[in-house]
Amino acid sequence: MQTEARHVPTSATRDRAAPDKTEVVLAARDVTKSFGAVHALKGVNFDVHRGQVTTLFGENGAGKSTLMKILSGVHLPTSGELILDGKPLAIKSTVEAREQGISIIHQELSLAPNMNVRDNIFMGREIMGPRGVNFAEEERQCRALMAELEEDIDPLTPVEDLRLGQQQIVEIARALSVNSRILIMDEPTSALSASEVEVLFKVIHDLKARGVSIVYISHHLEEALEITDHAVVLRDGVMTAYAPRAEIDLEWIVRNMVGENFDLGSPPEVEFGDVALSIRNLSVPPAGRGFRWWIGCRWICVRARSFASMV
Ligand SMILES: Nc1ncnc2c1ncn2[C@@H]1O[C@H](COP(=O)(O)OP(=O)(O)O)[C@@H](O)[C@H]1O
Ligand SMILES: [Mg+2]
Repeated sequence: MQTEARHVPTSATRDRAAPDKTEVVLAARDVTKSFGAVHALKGVNFDVHRGQVTTLFGENGAGKSTLMKILSGVHLPTSGELILDGKPLAIKSTVEAREQGISIIHQELSLAPNMNVRDNIFMGREIMGPRGVNFAEEERQCRALMAELEEDIDPLTPVEDLRLGQQQIVEIARALSVNSRILIMDEPTSALSASEVEVLFKVIHDLKARGVSIVYISHHLEEALEITDHAVVLRDGVMTAYAPRAEIDLEWIVRNMVGENFDLGSPPEVEFGDVALSIRNLSVPPAGRGFRWWIGCRWICVRARSFASMV
């Protein structure tokens, strides 16, 4: 087990230096973001290190995606500032962020299902030739990206015919096609198979070797630890801890995600009541056409005053 976690209350972090000497390429300083009455971020400091993977951990609703959307031009912060290469950065759109070399793979897929893979990847950034769009070059680059991601997807396949994991690969390919120097990945592996995750991690290692900085978010904590160089934990819009990989373990992450009162050992004692909801053999159709059905869940049972059980 590791040594004591470094708890960093927001007020104390404001003027604090980065946790190590690695060069900080992009930083958020005292960033807040409110959506009406919801204060999603409450004075967050966040550093992205050059050529390294900074992983952002936190429970659902902690503010991870909001912070990433601010770093990538989707949202403007309510207050606070962004600093790129030591200079204040003002970005008002994802296009402006991309011009600065910052791209994001969104948690929610943002592909046009009725368009093919090639057109999704180059949408809004078409490669122009003397006689209009150079589709052949786009297709060549698309094939190269698919080869890099070891995915056998034809560039002309409509996205709606791909399974969810493959759609996520297309989303990743689109971000890679931009050649960003800062790449934000918000839950990129949620629909990927184990072998696809392995390939993505290989790609991340290659990107790091080329000096690309990665910001990585995942609910798969152990998996994320495999590639993490720096860990940052957000809880209720506040940064609760940061540390380099060598100083942390799974318990450190969970403790900082949920607070000091966590207890992984003993389930709470509850009396199981009557069945309130029971779903059996829930299945959903695979992406695209065809008659195969994917069994998603054999049985969900929700009882009064109990946890949901799933088999
Ligand atoms: N566009 C929005 N409008 C209103 N509330 C939002 C919006 N985006 C996020 N929130 C709220 O901000 C909080 C943080 O959300 P989010 O950043 O998505 O968390 P996470 O990615 O850590 O799960 C949540 O309470 C969420 O409901
Ligand atoms: Mg999120």
